[in-house]
Amino acid sequence: LSNGLAQTPQMGWNSWNFFACDINETLIKETADALISTGLADLGYNYVNIDDCWEALTRDAKGQLVPESKTFPSGINALADYAHEKGLKLGIYSSAGVFTCQVRPASLFHENDDAATWASWGVDYLKYDNCFNLGIKPIDRYPPMRDALNSTGRKIFYSLCEWGEDDPALWAGNVGNSWRTTGDINDTWASMISIADLNDKWAAYAGPGGWNDPDMLEVGNGGMTYLEYRSHFSIWALMKAPLLIGCDVRNMTAETFEILSNKEVIAVNQDPLGIQGRKVNVTGTDNCLQVWAGVLSGNRFAVVLWNRCSESETINVSWDSLGLEPATTVSVRDIWKHEDVADAVGSFGVPVDAHSCEMFVLTPKLSYFRSIYLTRYK
Ligand code: GLA
Repeated sequence: LSNGLAQTPQMGWNSWNFFACDINETLIKETADALISTGLADLGYNYVNIDDCWEALTRDAKGQLVPESKTFPSGINALADYAHEKGLKLGIYSSAGVFTCQVRPASLFHENDDAATWASWGVDYLKYDNCFNLGIKPIDRYPPMRDALNSTGRKIFYSLCEWGEDDPALWAGNVGNSWRTTGDINDTWASMISIADLNDKWAAYAGPGGWNDPDMLEVGNGGMTYLEYRSHFSIWALMKAPLLIGCDVRNMTAETFEILSNKEVIAVNQDPLGIQGRKVNVTGTDNCLQVWAGVLSGNRFAVVLWNRCSESETINVSWDSLGLEPATTVSVRDIWKHEDVADAVGSFGVPVDAHSCEMFVLTPKLSYFRSIYLTRYK
């Protein structure tokens, strides 16, 4: 959507994956504080997004949405101010239906009123869900909210959460800043890998202004191992997925923080070219040895060697599979170890632990003749 937002995938935090309905304004403030004190905000995680269950069960006498008074007594406006004072942004949630998924009031047929309410509160982001949609097609339900948000005059990031219904990559490019390509993630290896595969199909449709959304991160929530979470984060970064942290950032382990704060992996996600990396080669039993790769700015490549098998195996990437001339010398940087590891010609491979991945940035060197030319004749 060309509203000036989402030039790179959105980064931040969302309450749902860890807290579900157990949310309140203290949690939101403490999360904002933690994003700042841990340094995650400086790394780009700047949206603090409140998911379902922030609302009272009914609209007020004027028909306006109101926050639940027990859990959000100071109101959403106060939270937006709190976030803005810290240089953060605040996100809110509703559904393109008659109720949210947790059966709170939602915004179908109330688009203009609700968008105006959020804008008046200083909200910066809307996640717009798909529950209780009366069987109306997404392509008819999502554009009215785009227009309503637009007419508020406030820049509000528009995140479509239509669960991949009717292949949004094909129609949402001028509707939203991101669109869900799948159903909900859960905190398991099986869920994460199947979602990665579904999202991969739509790679060609992502770019600045509009991203495929394979759902929020589960890193740090306990259902996967350290290496599995590292795979999850690496592949989400490579796929130019939104990086929305879904754990309790007030209580992260050192391992969780190490994954979420990897600057070089974040830089792949936030690369200005905005090209979604994809699965480029598979081998092994049930295709469990995988190479995922994508082009970065500066003629570079990001490569993930992903081992979905149950044993450690060596995985190779050939220049051929990247569309690179095989004779090219390429300098290979390991962006989990943060080291330049090799100059390679034709291909490069390393052993990868089961359920782990290794991630590299490949920078082709000037060819021999081109470097001679530049030294002698420039
Ligand atoms: C749906 C969405 C989730 C979450 C819940 C909240 O399932 O896909 O991401 O927002 O609703 O009820």
